Amino acid sequence: KVLVLGSGGREHALCWAISKSPLCKKLYCIPGNAGIQADAECVDIKINNFNSIKKFIKKKKINFVVVGPEEPLVNGIVDKLNKLKIKTFGPNKKASVLESSKSFTKDFCKRHNISTADYKKFRNYKEAINYIQNINYPIVIKASGLAGGKGVFIIKNKLEAKKTLRNLMIKKKFGSAGTEIIIEDYLLGEEISCLALVDGKNYISLLLSQDHKKIYDNDKGPNTGGMGAYCPLPYLKKNIQSKINKEIIEPTITAMNKEKRPFNGVLYAGLMLVKGKIYLIEYNVRFGDPECQPLIFLLKSDLLRILNNC
Ligand code: AMP
Ligand code: GLY
Repeated sequence: KVLVLGSGGREHALCWAISKSPLCKKLYCIPGNAGIQADAECVDIKINNFNSIKKFIKKKKINFVVVGPEEPLVNGIVDKLNKLKIKTFGPNKKASVLESSKSFTKDFCKRHNISTADYKKFRNYKEAINYIQNINYPIVIKASGLAGGKGVFIIKNKLEAKKTLRNLMIKKKFGSAGTEIIIEDYLLGEEISCLALVDGKNYISLLLSQDHKKIYDNDKGPNTGGMGAYCPLPYLKKNIQSKINKEIIEPTITAMNKEKRPFNGVLYAGLMLVKGKIYLIEYNVRFGDPECQPLIFLLKSDLLRILNNC
């Protein structure tokens, strides 16, 4: 008896695949959506209402929970469910910091020699304003905390930089997510998503994929969390996947163990390929939405079996 948490296209893809597994007797989704109803029984409970979720899990004798979105992970739902001895797929709170704090991640990359764009961190508005006076543009300004994929700004000039810093640090448009900000070098290249299923030590990388970031056609408009996705990426050289595994995925899993934050779940590395060199842009600690959709559609193995083994 499996419960999937979430309500997006990602969770529909997960439910679609899990429902086909011979290991799955009954599948529920909280809260689910209209499409998911075709594959799972949707239950109208708010995803942040842990007490009601817990009661439902007990009542239905759920054996396995798969967490879709980042928020419950970052808030420690895996820790809470594990305490109740309910097997759950996803990283615990300590490991989810890879997504919840871009500031942690940038320093983590530096500590462990994982390539990422050069950066500076700021908590003080005036210091940030001083910094942007005499630098080369474009740059990228990011809220350190969770902002649903909308807290990253590609900045072309000083005027834009001032406006963005004001929005983040003074007007607090993203609330506490903007308490700390990152200003980093702009990388021009090919963006790649690599999602690896990790059991703490071992991993399997899924096909490389790419999502359409900008809101409008022809790559116009502001960035979003992803307007659609495709895979595989036919234009990449064959060795790129193994390069990503060696330079990004493996060192990350090893370093997380070293830092006593063993990672279990989907390690999603958002990458930029610049002239053959791979840079880490961000980590997510869950399946990408929408990347999950083409990835799961092409997966030939039994997804539930893999998640359960993780
Ligand atoms: P993030 O949430 O950090 O993945 O950033 C969202 C999106 O902003 C990324 O998927 C990229 O498209 C873009 N982006 C982030 N950092 C950079 C960078 N240093 N250079 C160029 N584009 C970036
Ligand atoms: N598609 C980007 C994300 O899931 O964060």
